[in-house]
Amino acid sequence: MNIQWYPGHMTKARRMMQEDIKLIDIVIELVDARIPLSSKNPDIDSLAGQKSRMILLNKYDLADPEHTAEWERWFKGQGFYVYKLDARKGGQMKAITNIIQEACKEKIERDRKRGIINRPVRAMIVGIPNVGKSTFINTYAGKACTKTGNKPGVTKGKQWIRLNKNVELLDTPGILWPKFDDPAVGERLALIGSIKDEILNISELSIRLIEFLKEFYSGILAERYAVDENCDKIAILEKIAEVRNCRQKGNVLDLDKASKLLIDDFRSGKLGRLTLEFPQEQKI
Ligand code: G4P
Repeated sequence: MNIQWYPGHMTKARRMMQEDIKLIDIVIELVDARIPLSSKNPDIDSLAGQKSRMILLNKYDLADPEHTAEWERWFKGQGFYVYKLDARKGGQMKAITNIIQEACKEKIERDRKRGIINRPVRAMIVGIPNVGKSTFINTYAGKACTKTGNKPGVTKGKQWIRLNKNVELLDTPGILWPKFDDPAVGERLALIGSIKDEILNISELSIRLIEFLKEFYSGILAERYAVDENCDKIAILEKIAEVRNCRQKGNVLDLDKASKLLIDDFRSGKLGRLTLEFPQEQKI
């Protein structure tokens, strides 16, 4: 499946970021811990230049902990500060502030030598739609600064948020990049819900998910839907439809409904904590 999606406001968001980056000490990028690289915007590397970088592996609660640990090591190896989190939960924010300050210690020291004390670190927060940016800001700031909602592609305006005396955050609208060079990236983004479902072929996507689960998480489909995983992928989808009573008029199996159910179960974590891509596959 070849998915391309780049609403016009994302071009504008990119231009805005190019301007704003000059004011920033550190770029904090939220990625989805289930697909840390596919949900990372490659544009940010060129936009960020030499700025300090931090990766927040968000939705850690939905990702496979073993693979998240591998990703943590992998990103650290690439020079990023890294932290894994469930943005809906508080209690992690002191640790994050400490990492931000550690990442910006040279700048803080430079300021100190110039007699500038207690100037807050300025962080730009970036992330593709639906990665949990608004949730993170709400939790971090301790109040509802931004509106959250599951609407990929709906932009929000630029805003500075003073979190505490040490950190100011500049929020940016979620941006995607113009072209997914690898179709698998588009599929993974679609699976986690970062691309509008209306433009997707849900059945095709669910078949890809079945293939992946058979290969990397054998036993999961059998356990949840009592299917024989040795069957062909279409037969598995049919069985899911049967078991979950997805039927159209005339008692015909409704495979679209079964596909949606499977993908929803994945997105909500009902299939367990799963990671869709692994650092070993990366060639960087
Ligand atoms: P965005 O600003 O990046 O577009 O994303 P947003 O914060 O709106 O979050 C998108 C969805 O992801 C929300 O769910 C939010 O609750 C959920 N979410 C954010 N962070 C985490 C996390 O660490 N773990 C889990 N499991 N979910 C997270 P929603 O269904 O749209 O809304 P709601 O059910 O929370 O009301």
